[in-house]
Amino acid sequence: MRVLVTGANGMLGRRVVEAFSAAHEVIATARCSGDGVEALDVTDHAAVGSVLRRVRPDVVVNCAAYTDVDGAESDGDAAYRLNTLAPGHLAWACRDVEAALFHIGTDYVFDGEKGRAYDEWDTPRPLSAYGRSKLGGERAVVESGARFWIGRVQWLYDDRTPNFATRILDLSRRHPMLRVVDDQIGCPTHARHAAEQVQRIVESGRYGLYHMSSRGETSWWGFTRALLDAEGREDYLVEKVTTDAFPRPATRPRNSALRNRALELTIGDDMPSWEAGVEEFTRRRQEMNW
Ligand SMILES: NC(=O)c1ccc[n+]([C@@H]2O[C@H](COP(=O)([O-])OP(=O)(O)OC[C@H]3O[C@@H](n4cnc5c(N)ncnc54)[C@H](OP(=O)(O)O)[C@@H]3O)[C@@H](O)[C@H]2O)c1
Repeated sequence: MRVLVTGANGMLGRRVVEAFSAAHEVIATARCSGDGVEALDVTDHAAVGSVLRRVRPDVVVNCAAYTDVDGAESDGDAAYRLNTLAPGHLAWACRDVEAALFHIGTDYVFDGEKGRAYDEWDTPRPLSAYGRSKLGGERAVVESGARFWIGRVQWLYDDRTPNFATRILDLSRRHPMLRVVDDQIGCPTHARHAAEQVQRIVESGRYGLYHMSSRGETSWWGFTRALLDAEGREDYLVEKVTTDAFPRPATRPRNSALRNRALELTIGDDMPSWEAGVEEFTRRRQEMNW
């Protein structure tokens, strides 16, 4: 299979390139070219069409996105350009060259009021500009008539690129204690596990909407505690606080844990637990002496 990946320098994009490279021909693209990566600005409608006509991929995996959740509140145009219009450009171009599109979605399309995990048939109601722009992107893909998958992920982290997990551990080395929010619930998902799930779903050939979260759920506090405990730092103090302690421009859902119901009902849900992700993250950082 020839697979074109957009946003290939991002946290998930790098892992998707890696996952597919073992068994498929991969064309990695990013906003700027360099180091095995071809330039493709996904907001450039003409460029998207011409690159897809030249490359003729079987599958496009769209990992490019505007991911600054708070920034989207003041720069809505940038968020809609990248998260709503660009998936539309990709989907239309995929339809023209008979490629299928795998688009990455988010748990932030939900309002977090359900009280238990959301499945693919729950109705989205985003609370933020970021969530609305990502929901708009899903709709653009569905309405294009292209063959598609949408894979919603949440609370992604990795041992390589900067993210919540790496930042919180860095902070813990510079401060005697941390205060972390305990009233937002979700499921931390290692980017490698999400990327491998993208590949598995693509190879299944079963199109549609999928949740691709690790199993289980916790709060940001619970995730922080697990990261520190895994490093043997059980004595390090992490105080539980509520969301009001850190006012932010964008409203986050209180409980946006995802249930991978479409996977359960089709090819099976083999996503590992979030605790297994933390173990892998810690082992890898120890191996690399980080
Ligand atoms: N991280 C999470 O916790 C999380 C949670 C739920 C859903 N998601 C979704 O998962 C997907 C991947 O997120 P991520 O965490 O890997 O984000 P990321 O690390 O911020 O990667 C996004 C990538 O998109 C690229 N990009 C930005 N503008 C572009 C453009 N015009 N053309 C091409 N590429 C462009 C960025 O490149 P530059 O660095 O050059 O800007 C960056 O490499 C996104 O769809 C996101 O909405 C993420």
